[in-house]
Amino acid sequence: MDRLRGKVALIIGAARGIGKGIAQRFAEEGALLVLGDVEAEAGQGTADELGATFRRTDISAMTDAEAAVALAIERHGRLDVIVQNAGIYPWQLIENTSPDDWDRVMAVNLRGSFNAARAALGPMKAQRSGRMLFTSSITGPHVSSPGHGHYSATKAGINGFIRSAALEFAGYGITVNGVEPGNILTEAIELRRGPAFMKSMEDAIPLGRLGTPRDVANAFLFLASDDASYVTGTTIVVDGGQLLPEGKDFRLLPP
Ligand SMILES: NC(=O)c1ccc[n+]([C@@H]2O[C@H](COP(=O)([O-])OP(=O)(O)OC[C@H]3O[C@@H](n4cnc5c(N)ncnc54)[C@H](O)[C@@H]3O)[C@@H](O)[C@H]2O)c1
Repeated sequence: MDRLRGKVALIIGAARGIGKGIAQRFAEEGALLVLGDVEAEAGQGTADELGATFRRTDISAMTDAEAAVALAIERHGRLDVIVQNAGIYPWQLIENTSPDDWDRVMAVNLRGSFNAARAALGPMKAQRSGRMLFTSSITGPHVSSPGHGHYSATKAGINGFIRSAALEFAGYGITVNGVEPGNILTEAIELRRGPAFMKSMEDAIPLGRLGTPRDVANAFLFLASDDASYVTGTTIVVDGGQLLPEGKDFRLLPP
């Protein structure tokens, strides 16, 4: 219950889904929370539920990232953890993707991650400590599917950014890590992907179910906690074993 007692955490993309799960988990462990999200009403609702501070934040804009960090410092005097979880995943074939579509996914997922890190760097560097955490994905770094060209590029990009940032910030006492969720059951996934997609994913997961936001939040909790003080530049896969099978019929056993 006390793994983040007194730690100040800013979570971007926290209104719902995985980000809300991270916020709930961090709140249970005693963190002082500031939440940012582009959706003001839902974000404020989540913050009210958890006794957190909320600021409407479009993480693709550096000024918003800086303002969210400034709010955390103003309210709580420091910033121990930043989680950049905001991400968009339009399902769109490459042949139907316009340059503007491409740029928007890059702006939120990839530039947003740079913005979050850049905005948090000043205060964390001054403290000589901090945790920068990012929501990556198995999609991009390891696997992909049709319709995820831009998305896959951003998530593979986030992993590369994590490695470089971890090297640059190690001397300041700041660690940089990420979590790669597999298929996690959120409202957005249910609404946008539909039952056929869900069934095909379920069949592909050795543990036999889609993940929950809490499954992902538990990995973030570890990375944010003192237990992860010697972990930097890496990502944790949370996918129910989905990456493991060599072939389609992985339930087939030897005679
Ligand atoms: N759900 C999954 O199966 C899954 C798997 C792998 C990775 N992810 C990643 O997890 C993260 C959360 O996904 P989710 O399924 O919970 O999605 P979601 O759509 O439920 O939640 C995303 C949140 O980010 C917010 N957001 C979107 N654009 C923003 C912006 N410009 N600035 C600030 N906030 C913004 C949304 O308002 C929303 O609250 C994303 O980065 C996604 O790529 C999800």
